[in-house]
Amino acid sequence: MTLLKSSDRPRIGQSLITPINKVPTMKVTVIGAGNVGATCAYILTAKSSAKEIVLIDILEGIPQGKGLDMLQATPIIGSKSRVLGTNDYADTKDSDVIVMTAGKPRTPGMSRDDLLSTNVAIIKSAIGQAAQASPKAIIIVVSNPLDAMCYAALKTSRFPSERVFGMAGILDTARYKAFIALELGVSVQDIAASVLGGHGDTMVPLPRLTTVGGVPLTSLIPQDRIDAIVNRTRSGGAEIVKFLKTGSAFYAPAAAAADMVESVLLDQKRVFPCAAWLQGEYGEKDIYMGVPIVIGRKGVEKIIEMPLNNEEMEMFKKSAAAVRNIKEAVVL
Ligand code: NAI
Ligand code: 2OP
Repeated sequence: MTLLKSSDRPRIGQSLITPINKVPTMKVTVIGAGNVGATCAYILTAKSSAKEIVLIDILEGIPQGKGLDMLQATPIIGSKSRVLGTNDYADTKDSDVIVMTAGKPRTPGMSRDDLLSTNVAIIKSAIGQAAQASPKAIIIVVSNPLDAMCYAALKTSRFPSERVFGMAGILDTARYKAFIALELGVSVQDIAASVLGGHGDTMVPLPRLTTVGGVPLTSLIPQDRIDAIVNRTRSGGAEIVKFLKTGSAFYAPAAAAADMVESVLLDQKRVFPCAAWLQGEYGEKDIYMGVPIVIGRKGVEKIIEMPLNNEEMEMFKKSAAAVRNIKEAVVL
């Protein structure tokens, strides 16, 4: 796989951050101006890699107010992006990327799956209108229950599956890495890891394939501590819901979605665990599951199959069965 076209490769003396210094040309719509959506729009504004960022919500005034606030931050943070808040899908026309964050978040005691019917109705309405306004866009779904909402967005938009995928694995992996870094007292930057599977209690962290500065995790932490980290990762979202009481996590989720958007805008070919539509990969078909993918200008440019051992594959299958159950409950 070629990661950079020869024309994109930096030449001697040329800045390695050239793509970021280019004048941004693309348009991103973020649906949902709540915690995740507004935070994502602001992170994208700070990244300055989109020309236009449109924040849309059904609530009147909220996207307009937050959008204006972000626009007014651009001279301070040195952003080249234009931000607009709106209730009108006409303003989202010809977006290159749509980030779908609209939907109800969890409150204490609720599972992500409890949100199913409410959020399917929201996907149908919001993605229906957004896809019509931007028929060539790439859709990144964040709304929960994530894997089922990706399916609802795929069916509603009728876009090819490489243009509809979901954010969860980056978040689950970030939580896993953060807990390992805390345990070992090392930088999060040196931890290489991936959490696969559905975005739920059956997610599949992979300690056997986790390394810290190239050293296998399993040689650094005793098994009982690894188990504790895996369990804390699995309930990482619920731990935050319990503190917040009226909603769920949003800083890390928004940052994760923004990284995915940027990989599309800048054709970065980042490799992230994301919910992708499987057609035989990992032995699964017609289902969204968290797997490593290459994200570029075309969306999901490649699904990478990791060599899982029997135990890991069994966990992946268990997670797929849970995701399939929810998917089958989606009524469109
Ligand atoms: P929030 O309640 O702060 O914001 C949701 C926003 O969606 C609200 O402003 C609401 O007015 C808006 N909305 C509702 N119906 C709409 C419609 N038809 N069109 C446009 N906007 C509409 O919720 P938050 O915290 O931003 O979470 C949003 C969603 O993201 C939830 O479903 C949550 O569970 C999910 N989530 C998923 C994560 C993941 O890892 N995939 C991580 C964090 C949250
Ligand atoms: C999370 O994992 C709620 O899915 C959201 O925080």
